[in-house]
Amino acid sequence: MVTVAVAGGGGGIGLEIVRAILVTKKHDLIVLSRSKQPSLTTQGVDVRIVDYKSVEQLKNALEGVHTVISCIAAYGDDSTAAELSLLEAAKIAGATRFVPSEWNSACNDIVDLYAGKELVWKAVQSSGLQYTRFVNGLWMNVWGPGCIRDEDEALGAYKDRPAFSIDLKAGTAIIPGDMSQEIVVTRTQDVGRFVAATLDLPTWEAESRISGDRLSLGEVVQLARDICGREIRTTQMSVEELEAILAGSLEIGERFYYQLLLAVALGRMNFEPTLNELCSDIQPVTTAEFLRKHWTRD
Ligand SMILES: NC(=O)c1ccc[n+]([C@@H]2O[C@H](COP(=O)([O-])OP(=O)(O)OC[C@H]3O[C@@H](n4cnc5c(N)ncnc54)[C@H](OP(=O)(O)O)[C@@H]3O)[C@@H](O)[C@H]2O)c1
Repeated sequence: MVTVAVAGGGGGIGLEIVRAILVTKKHDLIVLSRSKQPSLTTQGVDVRIVDYKSVEQLKNALEGVHTVISCIAAYGDDSTAAELSLLEAAKIAGATRFVPSEWNSACNDIVDLYAGKELVWKAVQSSGLQYTRFVNGLWMNVWGPGCIRDEDEALGAYKDRPAFSIDLKAGTAIIPGDMSQEIVVTRTQDVGRFVAATLDLPTWEAESRISGDRLSLGEVVQLARDICGREIRTTQMSVEELEAILAGSLEIGERFYYQLLLAVALGRMNFEPTLNELCSDIQPVTTAEFLRKHWTRD
């Protein structure tokens, strides 16, 4: 049993992790948030309201905490500063373990909005704390928007966002690189289960790699056709085409989208998992199961 604090645990991937930790009934759980989280408080979670500009206040909120998991939305200077304060506070408060807000794969050097993650990662590595960064590839839930069954579950931590690469509702897809480039995709709910299980591991590797499924986007399109009977019009985009688009002037959201497509095309979302074997009792949902569950009526 450890006392674990999840920063940003009121929403997104943080909430999935909180839910999974609650299911284990093993750990003392604290959520750090900038606002009240009544739905968590009513479940008995100790929600501590924090101001990320105050290391002193964060330190007090982390008193007695063993493991700090950052799930702060890691896009831009504000959140980078918040994570660095959280790390500093974790050190002063005497925490043992720290997890930075990564939840992706090796593409921090490609995606402008992830530049801050690299700064935090370097600070984590020299912090003297035990640490791991979770690498989970693309969230499978990016194929949830507009689904025909259990949309809340299909979206998981990926709420109010557009589909990525393959839009099953519109019946369109942009496939970066060649159709056979494999990527790792993991449902956010499964990420939560793996993270909760990791709390019990006696030692942590620098990277904890999780794979829900590994396949190419071309195979996902084929599964959508075969399992869901959906016609998907695909457009392929080569690395050169993506680079040409990125050389132009783009709005920040578009730039983010094309940089992620480039990361896929360059194979940055393809990796060997490490945690699946260590936590072999967790059977993550496959893409075929996900599509059957959310995009078919039976
Ligand atoms: N692999 C993938 O496909 C994928 C997809 C999406 C996101 N991600 C990653 O997952 C992580 C979480 O991202 P997200 O977009 O899902 O987060 P999010 O749901 O937008 O935000 C999570 C929490 O972060 C806190 N937060 C937001 N801005 C903050 C700030 N400036 N300072 C301090 N706290 C702040 C908020 O908590 P409070 O308001 O309660 O304080 C919020 O509930 C990021 O590292 C992101 O890169 C990965």
